[in-house]
Amino acid sequence: MKTISILIPTYNEALNIKILIDRISHCLKKIDWEIIFVDDNSPDKTSEKIENLIKTQPNIKVIKRLKERGLAGAVITGLKYCKFENIIVMDADLQHDPINIPKLIKKFEKDEATIVIASRYFQSSTTEDFHFLRKIVSKLTIKIFNIVSYKKLTDPMSGFFIIKKDFFIDLSKQLSRDGYKILADIILNGPKTITVSEISLGFKKRNAGQSKMNLRVLWDFLLIIAYSLLKKYIPRKYLSYIFVGCLGLLTHLIFLYVFYKLLLINFLLSHILATFIAILINFTLNNVLTFYSKNLTGFRWLIGLLSYNIFCSYGIFISYSITKALSDLNFYWFLAGTIGAFTASLWNFSISKFFVWKDN
Ligand code: GDD
Ligand code: MN
Repeated sequence: MKTISILIPTYNEALNIKILIDRISHCLKKIDWEIIFVDDNSPDKTSEKIENLIKTQPNIKVIKRLKERGLAGAVITGLKYCKFENIIVMDADLQHDPINIPKLIKKFEKDEATIVIASRYFQSSTTEDFHFLRKIVSKLTIKIFNIVSYKKLTDPMSGFFIIKKDFFIDLSKQLSRDGYKILADIILNGPKTITVSEISLGFKKRNAGQSKMNLRVLWDFLLIIAYSLLKKYIPRKYLSYIFVGCLGLLTHLIFLYVFYKLLLINFLLSHILATFIAILINFTLNNVLTFYSKNLTGFRWLIGLLSYNIFCSYGIFISYSITKALSDLNFYWFLAGTIGAFTASLWNFSISKFFVWKDN
């Protein structure tokens, strides 16, 4: 008999769970299956709802994460609870029809591929209810992905695919826990020998609840691409931190201009105000982008912001001291400044990673 572990990340999907489980049981009569739900303590009590539903079904489990957030991280967490050799990852919102599960398994065995994707755009795939802007962004990102990966896939951003458990576990340490596009991450940043097949998926309307697609997904995509183009030499969190830093610098300059040039406030005060705004924006963006899996909320957000401020002020001091020391040694000003800023960014980043958004 065929076996399959179905790994489903959930966030606020309480209204979809029962139908989903019913449909899966209905479609998998000839297969020995299990479902592992990974829920991030959803406010709508998805995990409690699952627990109530599965009392008589030992082949369904729910893992509840209290401290972490994020789709990719949830999938990685769930991996080790899967007991079968092959894993299918899918959405809980019924956009991914379980009827495709036997098809994925069949194709996986036939092609002996590393991964088979259920694609929204493959041959007859229809994309019901797809906003036109989302469609354009989707098409464009797929094009870019194919250029960078030298592949010809129709849907590397899909959230519905089959993969071998051992392979996935081995690779998981290298994957981003903060992102959304775990499939794209696997294909682009996994071994070059990966082979990928696709089947066609009738993509459906989300049943209930809300899509979590937003700019963060785009950010995740850009990071996966940048990380791969830089040959994985620069850690991806650091990359994200630097990108956020650049945005912070831009905000700083814009606000400095507004306060100093437009509102005619004196330079020092303008500079201080702009600095605080830039730090606030940096902190907020790092909280939702760079360190999303350790996302701080409520009181922890406030404590985080305060410690971030204190540590980053020390970063300014480091940058200043190094730049000064180097220019005293007659370094060219640009080089001295760059080395100073680079050292400070390493300091700020390490402190953020290990203290503000504790990485353990
Ligand atoms: N545990 C956990 N934590 N689950 C999450 C989180 C989270 O922070 N965010 C989303 N999920 C779950 C949702 O509950 C759903 O089951 C699945 O992950 C996908 O989230 P959706 O909100 O339904 O995403 P989407 O439909 O907008 O995006 C789909 O298309 C993308 C491709 O453009 C999904 O299939 C994505 O996986 C896919 O990358
Ligand atoms: Mn969805």
